[in-house]
Amino acid sequence: MHWIKSSAAALAIVASTVISATSVAAPENKDLIDPRNDAYEQQHPDQYHSWKATSESNSLDDALADDPNMVILWAGYGFAKDYNKARGHFYAIDDVRQTLRTGAPTDENSGPMPMACWSCKSPDVGRTIDERGEDGYFSGKWARLGDQIVNPIGCADCHDTRSDEFKNGEPALALAKPYVDRAFKAIDKPFEKQSRLDQQASVCGQCHVEYYFTGENKSVKFPWDMGTTVEDMEKYYDALGFKDWTHKVSKAPMLKAQHPGYETWRDGIHGKNKVVCVDCHMPKVTKEDGTVYTDHKVGNPFDRFEDTCANCHTQTKDQMLEIVNTRKAQVLNMKLTAEKQIVAAHFEAGAAWDAGATEEEMADILQDIRHAQWRWDYAIASHGVHMHAPEVALEVLGTSVDRAADARTKLIRLLAKKGITDPVKLPDISTKAKAQQALGMDMETMNAEKKHFLETVVPEWNKKAEQREAQY
Ligand code: HEC
Ligand code: HEC
Ligand code: HEC
Ligand code: HEC
Repeated sequence: MHWIKSSAAALAIVASTVISATSVAAPENKDLIDPRNDAYEQQHPDQYHSWKATSESNSLDDALADDPNMVILWAGYGFAKDYNKARGHFYAIDDVRQTLRTGAPTDENSGPMPMACWSCKSPDVGRTIDERGEDGYFSGKWARLGDQIVNPIGCADCHDTRSDEFKNGEPALALAKPYVDRAFKAIDKPFEKQSRLDQQASVCGQCHVEYYFTGENKSVKFPWDMGTTVEDMEKYYDALGFKDWTHKVSKAPMLKAQHPGYETWRDGIHGKNKVVCVDCHMPKVTKEDGTVYTDHKVGNPFDRFEDTCANCHTQTKDQMLEIVNTRKAQVLNMKLTAEKQIVAAHFEAGAAWDAGATEEEMADILQDIRHAQWRWDYAIASHGVHMHAPEVALEVLGTSVDRAADARTKLIRLLAKKGITDPVKLPDISTKAKAQQALGMDMETMNAEKKHFLETVVPEWNKKAEQREAQY
């Protein structure tokens, strides 16, 4: 066990952060939630300034340009238009406005996405639910409350900023959204009964989870009723007959995994040992005057190695980086292996339809493709999974390859039955632009419409929000 300085030391860190659990209920004298992060600068300068420092993680990395296979995997769905890697919490509102996935609404009823799309971006979401109820928040299109949801992820997403404890500098952690509260109840972990340590993972689990949009209102639900593993959630979605979209090439009823980071972390070595998100991403740091505060700059724990990994481990930063980078390369390699098989399966299924295959002949095959891609996505959309639970990622990707192989074996037989014995030819998908072209996507129009939206609609939203917030 030379890995760990001593389990007593690790336990001491753990114990020092266990304070009694608190309730998620709103305080009795129901004043309104102030969603503005700046409003708390005077009260809590260290937490505010370190929170604001998430703005230093500002680079926008185009995930589709890195890996154009994903354009094909998401054909017919928003993610094929554009998909950037995550950056600092500070940018959550900018990024959801700027992505082509939210389209270019011209009024409150246009655009492709529902209101639910704001849900993991802003403390204004909890505020709006508090003021208008869940229906009052969720109903309608994404553009409906564009002037209401304007502050990026911040204080009121993880704390009850109205409580005396918050004002006194010893805030409890709190969930801002009732649908998150329900999800934790579904897995027998009601938030108010959780230890402080569990709560420190759960506040991140408000957003870094798998979820889907359900019902007339397209409200957010976590698919946890049967459990949180890849099989549990697959079973849940299958039983429901749920699909996020129909694949443009294969016509398979697809699932889009969101980012089941909380679920995969639970099954990893740190999760099993109750080492929580906050231990690595929000360490306690000591100031020059000896006082201690929680560093709110959620980012890469390696940037603060001494306050994170080194609290529990004896290895050097280089040794640890080497381990993590090796795992990253292994996961990436298996990811690409799975993609190669699933991309081929989509095109072969497309060829089978073209050759006159029937729904009945295709049903089983499409189910295999659905499962293969769900498993691929569950693993890779859990950002940081190579660190949090590499063995989970590798195992799930292995089963993804297996399901894709099942689909392709059946497809070869079916194609032969239809008289096609030559291998199905894939179009050139070597770059993002070529892959989008192969799908017939009109990127120029989409980009022009987005530009117009950002130049005309967004400034109006900002103006209205400023007027409203001036009255706080
Ligand atoms: C992503 C969740 C999250 C956000 C956003 C967040 N906090 Fe915290 N906050 C925590 C956690 C976690 C702790 C420390 C561990 C605990 O209390 O269990 C904490 C602790 C605190 C404390 C107690 C003192 C300390 O430093 O440990 C204060 C005060 C505080 N936060 C203020 C703020 C303010 C002000 C903002 C907005 C600028 C903010 N927090 C945003 C999660 C968050
Ligand atoms: C209200 C929803 C929400 C909560 C709560 C939340 N996150 Fe995030 N997180 C996001 C979103 C959205 C992004 C991507 C932002 C972007 O790219 O615009 C993100 C990005 C990140 C990143 C990438 C940062 C970077 O600089 O690249 C990390 C790491 C992260 N979150 C960890 C955490 C941890 C740990 C917690 C809990 C302490 C947490 N998050 C709580 C929604 C949330
Ligand atoms: C044992 C430490 C540790 C724990 C616990 C941990 N993380 Fe991480 N996490 C890391 C490290 C280190 C990285 C960066 C890996 C790298 O550099 O390749 C990371 C990466 C991430 C990323 C990807 C950031 C990006 O820009 O792609 C997200 C998001 C994230 N973690 C969220 C979480 C959440 C949410 C939890 C809890 C459910 C959690 N982490 C628990 C250490 C940890
Ligand atoms: C709060 C204590 C704590 C922190 C902080 C922590 N770890 Fe760990 N780590 C553990 C424990 C406990 C284990 C399990 C040890 C065992 O069972 O042998 C572990 C195991 C590991 C292992 C070996 C298990 C495996 O996956 O093969 C690696 C590698 C590791 N941690 C890396 C890191 C890195 C990198 C960081 C910082 C980003 C970090 N840890 C932060 C407590 C911690």
